[in-house]
This record gives sequence, structure tokens and C-alpha cells, in this order.
Amino acid sequence: MASPVSLLINIDHIATVRNARGGTAPDIVDAARTCVRAGANGIVCHLREDRRHIRDKDVHRLRHEMRTRFDLEMAATPEIVRIALRTVPDLVTLVPERRRELTTEGGLDIVRQKTRMKRVIERFHDAGIPVSLFVDPIRVQIEASAEAGADMVELHTGEYADAVAGRARLRQFYRLRAAAALGVSLGLKIHAGHGLHYTNTARIVRIPQVRELSIGYAIIVRALSVGLARAVREMVGVVRDASHSRH
Ligand code: PXP
Repeated sequence: MASPVSLLINIDHIATVRNARGGTAPDIVDAARTCVRAGANGIVCHLREDRRHIRDKDVHRLRHEMRTRFDLEMAATPEIVRIALRTVPDLVTLVPERRRELTTEGGLDIVRQKTRMKRVIERFHDAGIPVSLFVDPIRVQIEASAEAGADMVELHTGEYADAVAGRARLRQFYRLRAAAALGVSLGLKIHAGHGLHYTNTARIVRIPQVRELSIGYAIIVRALSVGLARAVREMVGVVRDASHSRH
């Protein structure tokens, strides 16, 4: 029986709403607690270089005021690496970052920066922090991730999520499935995320190697209609039901 899939909620956009008025509401830790009480297995946030949503204090509070699994998503820049090493999250997920992008737009090119990534990963390992690399489901990127010493890869599900339903989406799904199998054969754990929502997540859960999902935007949008707790519970249900049909 495959192990169940964990659901981590990305709460960046709770901070986006808070920052709209420059105050302290909604409170990031209260929101994170609501997610965990509703069945989420942990929290993700992305400390971006421009601090457009999550701020340094949020990272500190999420680590120190909660006990839940905490994934710090980040670019491997010297400043953010220093903050991550001080914070000691349960894992870091390294992502590419461009200032003008609306959200993370593509996977890391590990092939091109393998030596640099290896050095960054070693610094995290010296501090006892596992490292996940956010990559597109491309053979050479998965192989380079393993060679760089990553513990896991987060497979970028954006192209799958954006593909037109039918053949095109199925093709993207097969790419993810093959990448997951390859990753495990190279000793990597498999996470997945980006663009997942209530109707496209179950298929990803059924990829037997996938252990953890990172989902944000769809849940925050749903929360506007039904509240955060119910929005999280509904996604927990999607993941749980699909987990039962893994083989
Ligand atoms: N994983 C990574 C690496 C991301 O950059 C993001 C977006 O911040 C997510 C997962 C979550 O994506 P979404 O908000 O579309 O669910």
C-alpha cells in the first residue's frame, strides 16, 4: 500500500490580502492554524526577494508559533539562504525567481547550475535541512537534481494544469508520471505543485510516487466563497479520496 499523500497549503495570498491595507489582518498564523485544524499536513510560504506577500516576520512566526510541517519556498540567493539557515524550516523548496513574474513561472534549470546548486544544498544539509528542487518534468533536470544531492524534487504541474482537457492534458500527465518514476529510481522523493485545483489534483495524487502536494491559489479563491476551513477540508477530501485508489 503506497504511503498517503501530504497536503501543504501555500498561504502567500493571505499575506497579499493583509498587505493590501498595510496592517496585521488577516493574521498569517491564525490562517495557518485554521488550515492545519481543517486537516492540512503543513504550510508553505514563499519569501520572495521583493517581499510582495510573505515578510521575514511571517517566516519567523510560522516557524516559532506553530509545530506543523513548514516548507520555506525560496530562491537560492545569498540573503534568502541566510534567512532560511536561521529559520531551520522542515524543508526548503528552491525555485527560480524573477522580480516581474506574477508567480513562479517555470522550473529551475539544474543542468545549467548544478555546481552552484550542489554548494547551496550542502549548506542546507550541514544545517540538517532537506532540500527540494522545483523542476519541470524533464529527464535531464531530474537526473541533474539527483546528481546535485537534492532530497526531493517538486514536479512543476503548471503545464499539466494549463493544458486543454483531453489529449494535451493527458500528455502532460504522462510526463509527470514518467518523471516521478525516474526520480524515485534515482533516490529522490517526489512532491508536486503549481496550478492544482479541485478538479485536477486527484489524478496527480494517483501517481504512486507522489508524497506531498503544495497548493495555494485555488484554495484561497475557494475560501472567498465558503471560508478557509471548508476550502481546506474540501481539498483534503480530494487528496484522501484519490489516495485510496493509488496502487
Ligand atoms: N509550488 C511552487 C514551487 C510554487 O511556486 C507555487 C506558487 O507559489 C505553488 C506550488 C502553489 O501554486 P498554486 O498557488 O498555483 O497552487
